[in-house]
Amino acid sequence: MQVSQLVVVCVFLIFILVRSRVFAKNVNYDHVRHSLDPTPFPHSFKCFTCEKAKDNYHCNRWAEDKWCPQYTHFCKTVHHFNNHGKSMSVTKKCAIKEECHNLGCLHRKDSGHTECVSCCDGMICNVDVPTNHTNAVFSIMKSYRKSDACRSTSYSIILVSALLILLLLKP
Ligand SMILES: *[C@@H]1O[C@H](CO)[C@@H](O)[C@H](O)[C@H]1NC(C)=O
Repeated sequence: MQVSQLVVVCVFLIFILVRSRVFAKNVNYDHVRHSLDPTPFPHSFKCFTCEKAKDNYHCNRWAEDKWCPQYTHFCKTVHHFNNHGKSMSVTKKCAIKEECHNLGCLHRKDSGHTECVSCCDGMICNVDVPTNHTNAVFSIMKSYRKSDACRSTSYSIILVSALLILLLLKP
């Protein structure tokens, strides 16, 4: 192989690497499904947010669609319901780690009401309300932002490796 050929190949490989870096960054910081709304800072996310709505439907329907503050990391949901399972109040908010330490359900004998608290990690992950010990837990939303970036980065590594092997095999 001649030197000029090598230079061209190197420039091409660097171009691919830089391009994939830029692409990975975009995917990482700019959630695809909400890309119309510019993200305020890296790893920003949204939660359904409501204060003492009468049930989950009314919470989600009127919930403010806004970015969580930078110091919060999770979405928290507090659900009060009576002993027939009817919702009495739903509160959803952005939360810091400490607010997600006491999760689960508490039954109050005096009022006959139950309070279930759950937290989750992910873009608008607090759609549902917790109703029992199975779902009043901490959950991590699947298909989170980072996975997309990882996939595109590993894709470009495979591409570059394949090109290098091809060039090395060339007589
Ligand atoms: C908890 O609630 C969910 C949703 O209402 C239900 O599917 C599940 O069976 C319940 N689990 C228990 C242990 O009651």
